Amino acid sequence: MAVQMKGKHILSIHDLTGEEVRQILDTAKIMKMKKLTGAPFQPLQGKTLGMIFQKSSTRTRISFEVAMWQLGGYALFLNPADLQLKRGETIADTARVLSRYLDGLMIRTHAHEEVTELAAHSTVPVINGLTDLFHPCQALADLLTIEEKKGSPAGLNLVYLGDGNNMAHSLMYGGAKVGMNVTICSPPGYLPDKDIIETARVEAAATGALINIEHEPAGAVKKADIIYTDVWTSMGREGEGAGRLETFAPYQVNSALLEKAPKEALVMHCLPAHRGEEITDAVIDGPQSIVFDQAENRLHLQKAILALVI
Ligand code: CP
Ligand code: NVA
Repeated sequence: MAVQMKGKHILSIHDLTGEEVRQILDTAKIMKMKKLTGAPFQPLQGKTLGMIFQKSSTRTRISFEVAMWQLGGYALFLNPADLQLKRGETIADTARVLSRYLDGLMIRTHAHEEVTELAAHSTVPVINGLTDLFHPCQALADLLTIEEKKGSPAGLNLVYLGDGNNMAHSLMYGGAKVGMNVTICSPPGYLPDKDIIETARVEAAATGALINIEHEPAGAVKKADIIYTDVWTSMGREGEGAGRLETFAPYQVNSALLEKAPKEALVMHCLPAHRGEEITDAVIDGPQSIVFDQAENRLHLQKAILALVI
């Protein structure tokens, strides 16, 4: 059954229904196939996407820009330093004005509330390109990658090691939607947000998924189908970096840890990686790593989102 998603904001996976997640994943597969066969597909001719980046980006910026181009539309990179936002114009007024020019808005910023505020005053769909709390486009692309490599994610065990950050939150919400068990293995003091864990657990109950919290990496990876990690210091937290290195050292994804996991376990990382910190060269460049397939799938997944909501 097709679900009408025109005009829908994509702020957090939690806001999507299970049917919408399924439709996004299925549409992404169609996008990928069309790209492979060279079949032209340009439903966004004459449409524009504005992209506001308050934080750095390689994958998100380039993949959204290329996605709009391939779909026949156009993407504008909006540097907040050059917008009147920087001089105090409100997010609400910015949303009202940009909605008069654009057909969609993508934003990467710090506080998640800035994105909800933008969406509340925008008459065009707003897509979250990462906040301190969530990274929905990445986690949706990860579900696509998992489905390609392992088949249905329902019943699989994803074990995330490291900081209970925006990726941990979006992976819990993603797992809950599709019935995939998600274990977050973090040092005490660096767990995901309590309310988000609870919300994910409530949602997971509906799909049969389990959301677990653990502290001991060797035990956590024993039954892992997917081992996932991310940087120990997310953007905006650089000031805490030095202390974190010591705290997170036991959570490094290295060859010794992989030996404790099933040999079919695959390794994922949203990138950028800090090689030698959360993941070693041997693992990220090794046969179990699927990190660059993950990165590629951002393009196909975001083309699906753009074509569905604009
Ligand atoms: N994974 C991800 O969002 O990468 P960028 O920070 O390069 O966009
Ligand atoms: N957790 C990381 C993800 C980067 C894509 C960060 O927020 O910096």
